[in-house]
Parts: sequence; structure tokens; C-alpha cells
Amino acid sequence: WPRTSTRTDGALTIGGVDVRDLAEEYGTPLYVVDEDDVRSRMREYATAFAGSDVHYAGKAFLCKEIVRWLMAEGLGLDVASGGELAVALSVGFPPSRITLHGNNKSAAELRRALEVGVGHIVVDSFEEIARLGYFAEQLDVRPKVMVRVTTGVEAHTHEFIATAHDDQKFGLSLNTGAAAEAVRRILALPHLELVGLHSHIGSQIVDTAGFEVAANRLATLLVRIKDEHGVVLPELDLGGGYGIAYVDDDEVPDIKVIADALREIVEKVCTSSGLPVPRLTVEPGRAIVGPGGITLYEVGTVKDVEGLRTYVSVDGGMSDNARTALYGAEYTTVLASRVSEAAPMLSRVVGKHCESGDIVVRDHYLPADLAPGDLLAVAATGAYCRSLASNYNYLPKPAVVAVSGGKARVIVRGETEDDLLRGQL
Ligand code: LLP
Repeated sequence: WPRTSTRTDGALTIGGVDVRDLAEEYGTPLYVVDEDDVRSRMREYATAFAGSDVHYAGKAFLCKEIVRWLMAEGLGLDVASGGELAVALSVGFPPSRITLHGNNKSAAELRRALEVGVGHIVVDSFEEIARLGYFAEQLDVRPKVMVRVTTGVEAHTHEFIATAHDDQKFGLSLNTGAAAEAVRRILALPHLELVGLHSHIGSQIVDTAGFEVAANRLATLLVRIKDEHGVVLPELDLGGGYGIAYVDDDEVPDIKVIADALREIVEKVCTSSGLPVPRLTVEPGRAIVGPGGITLYEVGTVKDVEGLRTYVSVDGGMSDNARTALYGAEYTTVLASRVSEAAPMLSRVVGKHCESGDIVVRDHYLPADLAPGDLLAVAATGAYCRSLASNYNYLPKPAVVAVSGGKARVIVRGETEDDLLRGQL
């Protein structure tokens, strides 16, 4: 739950604001972001990784206000598309602190990145190296590039979000020699400045050994590059993926411990080989915005399926939170608008979409007197919920409201029926 959440008069409050007032004023479903929580996590990462760069991964949740918070807290930004880049630039985020990612960046995205002068471009294929070299020459610029390396580390997370084994679409493999070949090709192009290597092993990772193995392998590759080409690359980007707690017994890694371990490993490998210690970058997304966000829903129907469980239908679902359907993600929920002494009943919180996989919270105990009109809050929805939201069944995307110091304000307007019809001929 967000750091500022508490109970007042029986109702959940976040940032000093009663969720009943939020529902009344802005409607449901509603994404609520605890500004103090998110900004304190930005600062915690900056502190733990002092001397390194922290680039928030915008894919987790990006909007103009989040970009303003990043600027105020001094973080960098990782973008994965021209759209994410446009959000950042729209409020004056410095391009030099932006890294562009993607396994299939379009020509337009690459050109735009070069024109505005993004700080780093992480290349992901041989075609892209050639394309980027060509555009850079045309525009007469020399971008800083990194090679995305597939380190072969087994990350313990859902298959769809593990990215360091060879058999997936991202990166250039360390094992097959593709990464070394990419380095050779970039060094041969005068318009590309190779500054380092990048690795992202996956997301929602709580076993931190994988990060350490990946850092070790990247640092070792730096040494090999020095030996083979006589080139000292000054940077390593270790990606993101730090897991957060979704349900009560989830254990999460301590970021200070990870930061120290990563620094130590890289230092050890480099100094023992006479290499200067490279500047590190990390790219946390979920760990910054995940815990501080909740989703508020209103209960519409309560259906008891005799002998099995109770189905509690809320006014959103897989369109505002696709993660349960996509990854079998687990969430926790509470009755947020009042306290109840009623006995717990095994419940499944489901949405209003036309499929049975439209589940928000798979199994959870909720009070047996739960009734239409009650508000449910689902925890830790700040990351990858609004950003993965869809208009399935023509549901409008909910608003995002930021709360702090007893005040609430809309940071992303909720969609209306007009928004849904816009663009149709
Ligand atoms: N850097 C790169 C290159 C990435 O691909 C990602 C996430 C991150 C950083 C940030 O990872 P984080 O710290 O947020 O774990 N939709 C999925 C997660 C997809 C993650 C994609 N890449 C989910 O909802 O679990």
C-alpha cells in the first residue's frame, strides 16, 4: 500500500484524501497515485545509486506530470518509442538525459532521436546498427550508442517478461558471439560513438543473483573489448527489473544492498584487469511507480457461486489492469469505503468485460456483507496498469489522480465517450 495510506473514519485515505471523496469527485474506476510515495522512491534510487545514473523506465507509467517529478528529482528517463519520447519532450525534459530503447525502432523514431539529440541509443540488431549509422551520417551527428547484450542469465520471473535467455527477441547474444560482432560493426562506423553495453534481464525479479551475474558478464565483456580492440568503453547500463510486493508475503530486494553489490562486482572485474571503472546506469520502472499507485473500483454485483466462491464484479477490469489476465499476476484488495466486522468470504474480484479471464484479483477474502456501492481498492497498481490499459469493449480509460498533503488533482484526464468516438469515419 502507498506509504501515506491510512484509515480515517473507517475509510482508506491516501495522501490525506479520503477515497470516498475521490470516488465522488472523479468517479470510478480511478487510478490514484501517492505523489510523496513515488517521489520518495525516486530519491531513494538516486541515493542508493549515487555516482551512477538512474533512468526511470517510462513504460511503467508515463505522463507529463511524472516527467516533471523526474526533472525535479534529477533522474534520467528511458523511452521505448517515439510516443514516450514525445511525452518527455513536451514538458522540456532534457534530451541528453534520455535513452532510447526498442528492438524495432522505426526510421522516424531513430531520426527524431538523432535530431533532438537523445543522450543514448541502445542498439538491438545488426540492421539497426547499419540504419543508425546511415541516418547519423546523413544528419552529420555522432550519437552515443550502447549494445544491448543478451547475457544468458536465467531470470526467475514470468516467461513473457524474462529477457536474458537466448531464445527471445531482445538483444545480441553473448554466447553466440553476436554481441562481439555488434561491437566490431559499430566501431567500424565513424558516425557512431560506442560508449558501453546494456543488459536488462527481465522484470519483477526478486532473486537478485541474476543482476549480479549479468553485471559480471557485462564487465567481463568490457575487458575483452579492451583486449581485442584497444578500446575502453566508459559506461554500463544494467537495466531495471527490481521486484515489488504485490501481496503480503512478497519479499522484495533492498535496493541499497543491490546497488552496493553491483558496484562492487563491476569494480572488481574492471580494476583486476586494469580497466577504469565504468559509469553505471540503472533503469527501474515498476519499483518507482508501482507501490504508490492504487486502483479504486465500485462494486456492482456480488454473486455467490454455491460451494465455490463469491464473484465480486467491479466497474473496470482487464482494460485498466491487464496484468492478471496476461501474466497471472497476484494482487491484494480491501474494502476501502468502510470497515466491516462481517466474516471473511473467499472472493474473486472480476471486471465487466466479456470474458471469464477478466479477473482483477484471483483469490482474496473480503467481508461477507460486501454490497453494491462499496469501494474496493487494489494495491500496487501504479506500474504497468495505466500504461497497458486498453479500450476493450469501448470502456474509456480511467483518470489518474495524484494525491498529496490532503489535496487531489487530475494528472491524466479520464476518457469520455467523445474520446472513444474520435477518429472514426
Ligand atoms: N529497461 C528495459 C530495457 C526494459 O525493457 C524494462 C522493462 C525496464 C528497464 C524496466 O523494468 P522494471 O524495472 O519496470 O521491471 N508489462 C510487464 C512488464 C514489462 C517490462 C518491460 N521492460 C508487467 O506488467 O509485468
